[in-house]
Amino acid sequence: MTSKIDWSTEYDIFDPQYIADPFSIWDQLRGTCPVAHTDKYKGSWLPTTYETVTEMARDIEHFSSRNVSVVPPLMEGGGAAMFLPAPIGVDPPVHTYTRRALLPSFSPRAVDELEVFTRAWCRELMDRIAGRDTADIAVEYSQQIPAQVIATMLGVPTNMKDRFTGWVRAILENAAADPEGRKNAVIELIQFFGEQVADRRTNGLGDDMISDLLRQEHEGEPYPENLILGMCGLLLIAGVDTTWSGIGSALWHLATHKEDRQRLLDEPELLPTAVEEFLRFYSPVTMARIVTKDHEYRGCPMHEGDRVLMAFPAANRDPEAFEDADKFIIDRENNRHVAFGAGIHRCAGSNLARMEMRVAIEEFLARVPEFEIDDTKEVTWAGGQVRGPRNIPVRILRSNPK
Ligand code: HEM
Repeated sequence: MTSKIDWSTEYDIFDPQYIADPFSIWDQLRGTCPVAHTDKYKGSWLPTTYETVTEMARDIEHFSSRNVSVVPPLMEGGGAAMFLPAPIGVDPPVHTYTRRALLPSFSPRAVDELEVFTRAWCRELMDRIAGRDTADIAVEYSQQIPAQVIATMLGVPTNMKDRFTGWVRAILENAAADPEGRKNAVIELIQFFGEQVADRRTNGLGDDMISDLLRQEHEGEPYPENLILGMCGLLLIAGVDTTWSGIGSALWHLATHKEDRQRLLDEPELLPTAVEEFLRFYSPVTMARIVTKDHEYRGCPMHEGDRVLMAFPAANRDPEAFEDADKFIIDRENNRHVAFGAGIHRCAGSNLARMEMRVAIEEFLARVPEFEIDDTKEVTWAGGQVRGPRNIPVRILRSNPK
């Protein structure tokens, strides 16, 4: 390691070195300081072992989800008066009923129905890519899939995709570097969903998730506006760059590991197992918790209000929990990864995310079975709350006809 940063006391998850290679930093921390601390971004703790991450994720008494952003909120209380991002950003009892309200939309049956549409969309995207010599498959493919799916589920215009992507990047990826841009994105997003809600109230409800939320009641009362807007915004934020990062990492891996690509072409039935290993090995999502009361956690003096980063990606590389944790094993059998989190906040959209990843990879390989990184251009990765490739320039070596 070249830099002089002491990662156990001054880690910075937006540091270029952390973004490029968090893995060796976590390895180092696990051996010396399994729960690290930094003063950066108003301070936080960073657990890096499977045991500590999952234990904290399940301990809702000491670790609250009232703010899950890895950088401090823009407003006191996270702006909850305008925008309450349930169920991810709330504790029980609000968590319990808002999560229950969302789950039917992500059931295996609901996701099966979405698969047809997702596959057709992936094929359309591949029609634009296959047959060419080069492409940026992060921008032209992986980024294009989840926003289209979630926009369709929410019943909002799919031609808003680029704006959605812009908001999500401003709110997550660039949150630390550009607080003003983050604030504007939140305001625009609330305004957009405010208009969508008003339109349904005036013109009648339809068969979409925003209408479903408007039909929900708790203790005989409809959900308040800040809850509806927050839940819509969350679905957009939670569903877009997470899955796009998952698809992108998988394609980057297949561009750089010919033997794994060939294995998937020869044994397509391996794909669901491979998706789990992509999720473990390239876990995109780190969430935060807020300490609810002063207490000592494994020797660390935690104070009420402290931020804790739930490094699910680090837990997934812990050699105590996974054999050959730093090896990508495409047919790994025992894979109890926590890429989707653990405890009551475990990802509500995991069925959807898995389907999108599986279909995206399948359709890509069907049309472009041979490709490699175009080393005349730069591969770029985003870090922070959601890690994944943002540019994957490739040379297309072989394309199949439709
Ligand atoms: C590869 C893609 C995805 C990954 C890695 C991922 C990861 C996660 C993680 C780690 C959590 C736990 C948060 C916490 O503990 O604070 C979570 C929660 C959540 N995710 Fe996902 N997610 C993905 C895709 C999606 C999609 C496509 C949707 C739906 C549009 C979605 C909706 C949600 C929701 C609603 C929650 C909150 C659940 C709760 O608080 O009870 N996610 N996700």
